[in-house]
Amino acid sequence: MSNIAWNADDYNRNARFVSDYGHQVADLLGDIRGLGVLDLGCGDGPLTKELENRGADVIGVDASPTMIEKAKELGLNVAVMDARELTFDNEFDAVFSNATLHWVKPPELAVAGVARALKPGGIFVAEMGGHGNVAAIVTALIAATRLHGLPEFESPWYYPTPGEYGQLLIEHGFEIESIALIPRPTPLPTGMLGWLKTFAQTSLAEFRQESVATVLDTAVELLKPSLCDSAGNWTADYIRLRFRAKKITS
Ligand code: BEZ
Repeated sequence: MSNIAWNADDYNRNARFVSDYGHQVADLLGDIRGLGVLDLGCGDGPLTKELENRGADVIGVDASPTMIEKAKELGLNVAVMDARELTFDNEFDAVFSNATLHWVKPPELAVAGVARALKPGGIFVAEMGGHGNVAAIVTALIAATRLHGLPEFESPWYYPTPGEYGQLLIEHGFEIESIALIPRPTPLPTGMLGWLKTFAQTSLAEFRQESVATVLDTAVELLKPSLCDSAGNWTADYIRLRFRAKKITS
């Protein structure tokens, strides 16, 4: 999660699927009973809870104070912390991260912090947006801002190729066990406008409110032929980058 001002209820309505998909990513950790695990970008905590239920001793961190407040309501051990400023040192057997790292720029600060947080031999498992993720959506937002003569939409996201992120992991002392792009067309429960309002609106914050509404409506129109079916169901063009890496240097 980035440190944008998340509204937990809005997120719950428009984006609960984000953590629903994370259970498969958690499977990549293997047996975590009795292990110390850091959940990086824990949001309101559903996957932190899941890792606890699988028997790990888990700490969750997220840059959003509102999300951390919600996570505390689940009785979880969580703290507000930016992924670029992790304060842990040789403390965890594993670091887990779902749908967070594409918000983190520059990415090397997060990778360095994770490497520091892990014990030697510790495991880093993550899934994030990968190269080409939501490409149609980003293109529509750029087109919509241009069409209305507004400053061009600048993507707040970082979607690396496996080669690019793999290199970063190796430079920070990891050995890569697996890394791949996984196309995952993702149904949007509240349609494209709900998704755009939750995830893209803050990148248009400098615009007047009417201009934001106009840009979002235009983007929705542009996307309709490719991402909306004849019954009105929307699907986002998600592509995940999923990896498992082991820290090999101390
Ligand atoms: C993602 O999980 O790929 C994603 C989430 C929010 C905005 C953009 C991408």
